[in-house]
Amino acid sequence: MGFKIAIDGPAGAGKSTMAKAIASKLNYIYIDTGAMYRAMALFLIRNGIDSLEEEKISRKCQEADITIQHVNGEQIVYLNEENVNTLIRTEQVGNMASASSVNRDVRQKLVELQRKLAETDDVVMDGRDIGTQVLPDADLKIYLTADPEVRAKRRYAELLEKGMDADFEKIKADIVERDHRDMTREISPLKKAKDAILLDTSEFEIEQSIASILGLYEACLKNKNKE
Ligand code: DC
Repeated sequence: MGFKIAIDGPAGAGKSTMAKAIASKLNYIYIDTGAMYRAMALFLIRNGIDSLEEEKISRKCQEADITIQHVNGEQIVYLNEENVNTLIRTEQVGNMASASSVNRDVRQKLVELQRKLAETDDVVMDGRDIGTQVLPDADLKIYLTADPEVRAKRRYAELLEKGMDADFEKIKADIVERDHRDMTREISPLKKAKDAILLDTSEFEIEQSIASILGLYEACLKNKNKE
C-alpha cells in the first residue's frame, strides 16, 4: 500500500496546480479525477445527450472506456482509446462534467477506476469526493479553497494563457453555479472530510500554497513514523 494524499475543493481553487507540483516533488503519481468526469462529459456531448437525460446518461456511460496513462509525469486521458487531453479543457465540457457527475452510474464507474489506480502506488489524487468517498483512508487530506472572485480570476487568466476566448463575468457565474451543484448533489457532494485540513489560498501565491502542503506532508509523515 502506498502513501495517499487526497486534495478536494471547489473549481479553480488550485487543486490540480498543487497536486501536480506535490506529486512531482515527492515523485508520486498524480491522478486528476476531474479529467475523468470531463472525458465522460465529452463522450455524452458527442452523443448528443443533454445533461437532464438521466436514463440515457446511465445507459450510455457504460460505453465509454476511460483510461489514463502517465508520460513524463503528465496524465493523459483516453476516451475509447483516443487521447482527449486538450479537448476536455473547455468551459462547455467542464459544465457538462459538473452536471453529468450527479449521475449514480457515472460516479460508480469512475470511482471504481480511481480506487484501482490508487491501489498500489504513492498517489496525489484531486477531485471533489476523494477524502470522503474514493480514498476515505487517505494518509493526508487537504480541502483547498479560495474566494470565488479569486478563483474566477485564476480560471480567466488560465484560459487567456492557453489562447482561449474568455468572458470574466460568465466564468464567475459558472463557478458559482458549479459550486452550488457540486455541493448540493445527492451522491457524494463536495464537502470537507472531517479529518481534512482546510487550506484557504485566497491570499497565497502558488509557491506559498505548495510549501504549506509540503509542510503538512512532512508533519504527517513524522506522525506516521511515530506510530
Ligand atoms: O476539477 P474539474 O473542474 O476538472 O471537475 C469537473 C467536474 O467534475 C466538477 O465540476 C465536478 C465533477 N467531479 C466530481 O464530481 N468528482 C470528482 N472527484 C472530480 C470532479
